[in-house]
Amino acid sequence: MIKIKKIGVFTSGGDAPGMNAAIRAVVRTGINNDIEVIGILQGYSGMIKGDFVKMETSSVSNIIQRGGTILKTARSEKFFTIEGRQQAFQNLKNVGIDALVAIGGDGTFTGAEIFSKEFDFPIIGMPGTIDNDLYGSDYTIGFDTALNTVVEAADKIRDTAYSHNRLFIIEVMGRDAGFIALQSGIAVGAEDILIPESKTYIDSLLSKLRHDWRKNKTSGIIIVAEGDDSGGAFEVAKVINEKCPDFKTRITILGHVQRGGSPSCLDRVLASTLGYHAVKALLKGNHGVMVGRVNNKVVFTPFEKATKLHQEINKPLLEMARVLSL
Ligand code: F6P
Repeated sequence: MIKIKKIGVFTSGGDAPGMNAAIRAVVRTGINNDIEVIGILQGYSGMIKGDFVKMETSSVSNIIQRGGTILKTARSEKFFTIEGRQQAFQNLKNVGIDALVAIGGDGTFTGAEIFSKEFDFPIIGMPGTIDNDLYGSDYTIGFDTALNTVVEAADKIRDTAYSHNRLFIIEVMGRDAGFIALQSGIAVGAEDILIPESKTYIDSLLSKLRHDWRKNKTSGIIIVAEGDDSGGAFEVAKVINEKCPDFKTRITILGHVQRGGSPSCLDRVLASTLGYHAVKALLKGNHGVMVGRVNNKVVFTPFEKATKLHQEINKPLLEMARVLSL
């Protein structure tokens, strides 16, 4: 086991609120253990370019409450080439970085897994994505804040939907995962929730809406995940308008607003806890894993599992949400 003296930390993939709290925890735990910490800018792209910055305890002052990532982020295609990874490895060696902390989602860990095996390089991962789709952590850093952003927006939309007797179709993020849609949909009392993990039957959505309206409902909200098989909010609204022209539909696409903002208390605590344990584990020789929290315990899941398996969505909650919104 090599003695780690210098670690690099980077954020990669889509940014998520709480990434800064995670960087802060990594930097300060490292320095506290007499480790030098280097920030790598723009994820794997910065690793390939050699875009490094020495981190001091003061470099991470006043960031725990800030959204985004001070290290910036990117999705690097070059890192998925052997030439790109060789360049990255050479740059790390040149500055003496002997281990890495990677903060991101499944793309980040897929890259980390390949790189760590190829160059026998110690890497530990932290789950940072608003999607909450990683196996090995009940919650990912950023998910809770994104949920609160959606809930705040949907509550506002509810006011205007009620006033105008309108049916709003709100599209939330989640190309492959419906966690944001499901949890926020329950929290705002959505009339229906459409997610990629469950086949969407527009006819059953329509009969639910007609039933609700017969019960004197005059307005409503449908939450649809961007990756739902219906094709998203515009497609759903088109079919509703064709088949039930009486519904007065409006569409809101929340988009990247969900990725920004000051992290919630839950995300700050999660990021701080996982950052602290990531460095501690790395120094004890634990790597090739993602640190997560399951049932309130810190656990370590091999990259291979974290990327190949996916967190299971609780589908019965869809039915519960339908019943509760009658
Ligand atoms: O993975 C996080 C995420 O926000 C997804 O929910 C979304 O589909 C995707 O990133 C959007 O990516 P980009 O910012 O590259 O458009």
